[in-house]
Amino acid sequence: MDIFRIEGPVRLSGSVTVNGSKNASLPIMAAAILAGGKSVLKAVPHLSDISVFRKLLGQLGCKVTKNRKGDLCIDSTVIDNPVGDYEIVRKMRASICILGPLLARCGRAEVSMPGGCAIGDRPINIHLRGLRELGAQIHLKSGYIIAEAPNGLTGKDIFMGGPFGSTVLGTANVLMAATLAKGRTVIESAACEPEIADLANCLNKMGAKISGIGSPRLIIEGVRQLRPAEFEVIPDRIEAGTFMVAAAITAGELRLQNCRLDDMMAVVDRLRNVGVTVDADGDGCVVARSGSIRPADITTQPYPGFPTDLQAQFMALFSLAEGNSVIIEKIFPDRFMHVAELNRMAANLRKEGPTVIVAGVKKLIAAPVMASDLRASAALVLAGLAADGTTVVNRVYHIDRGYERIEERLNPAGAKITRESI
Ligand code: EPZ
Repeated sequence: MDIFRIEGPVRLSGSVTVNGSKNASLPIMAAAILAGGKSVLKAVPHLSDISVFRKLLGQLGCKVTKNRKGDLCIDSTVIDNPVGDYEIVRKMRASICILGPLLARCGRAEVSMPGGCAIGDRPINIHLRGLRELGAQIHLKSGYIIAEAPNGLTGKDIFMGGPFGSTVLGTANVLMAATLAKGRTVIESAACEPEIADLANCLNKMGAKISGIGSPRLIIEGVRQLRPAEFEVIPDRIEAGTFMVAAAITAGELRLQNCRLDDMMAVVDRLRNVGVTVDADGDGCVVARSGSIRPADITTQPYPGFPTDLQAQFMALFSLAEGNSVIIEKIFPDRFMHVAELNRMAANLRKEGPTVIVAGVKKLIAAPVMASDLRASAALVLAGLAADGTTVVNRVYHIDRGYERIEERLNPAGAKITRESI
């Protein structure tokens, strides 16, 4: 098991390149199931979640390799085992997004129920409702979802909204299934996240007929089959946002390469609101802070609102603001595993249900802390960069799920992060 030893406080200065999006790569890897041949995916990041998904595709019958350029090659000519095994799905909830493509390609799928995780309950009722609307028969057996559509799927007008708004992977599942359904499907209250737009663009490159991309209403004209494609995934806006906070929390300056500010307007709005400068620069931007951090309020919402995946990182930043900030988590109301750990570092956070009042303190103090989920762990690393002393972050494997060797990318800009195996 690896730990991080982080010396602080430091002031970051330099440049960091943002990798391809984990949350675009996973559903696009699932979409390769529909192609019935060899697709080539570019800019897929080297993360443990991606490795787990590669293994899952292999179990279905796909051949997953890397070419000399490091692109991911997925040959889905043969799918002879449409089963998403519990041992894999329980490790990574996103595996659920093989359900739609398997159902559309094979007429049958067995996928383990994903179960909950550190950020809270992760229901899939809207996924299943959407697939049933397309004509699938779905029942549960021993913790597995058994989905069947022996005569194929039929297009339908489907409302995919839930109590927390749209669902990202629910939209992905139904969108992928609808590409091969007979006739037209309308998905109302579709997720508008850039990762879903990227998936739709990839599916269209494979021969699908999807319009309304990026809007809450997706219209899909079913086609008989899809073909393999070559596709490059978009940059990871959550990784970019994490690096922006790294510059801000250390009162430093970072140039981010390969970062699409258009996908991050809510994030940039909050950074500028608290006194951080964000200036476009070539294919990325320069993020800097010199003065104090002003307090601000954040409410997480579906895109284009403020992303829940950056809530923890901004809480670390606001912990050092001159005044009180309020953070309301509307997507995953229990997504606060980082609160107790940041308080161990002398932050002053008070949780009231889905709301945290962040009373700014003058400084954070290093401490041994425990990583829990991917983004909470990133927040602890960011806090360690700014804290006085040596912060030890345990269970670094949580961070490796979503950030490729983060220490090797931040240390050249002035971070002092040492990875140790214990
Ligand atoms: C995706 O998860 C992301 N994961 C998450 O990022 C992200 O936090 C989340 O979207 C929200 O943006 C990937 O893309 C791999 P949802 P997803 O379905 O699709 C409720 C990270 O750190 N809901 O949009 O699973 C659900 O409980 C990860 O990279 C239902 O009620 O999230 C939640 O409250 C963590 N019924 C809300 O909707 C359903 O059937 C949004 O969840 C589905 C979801």
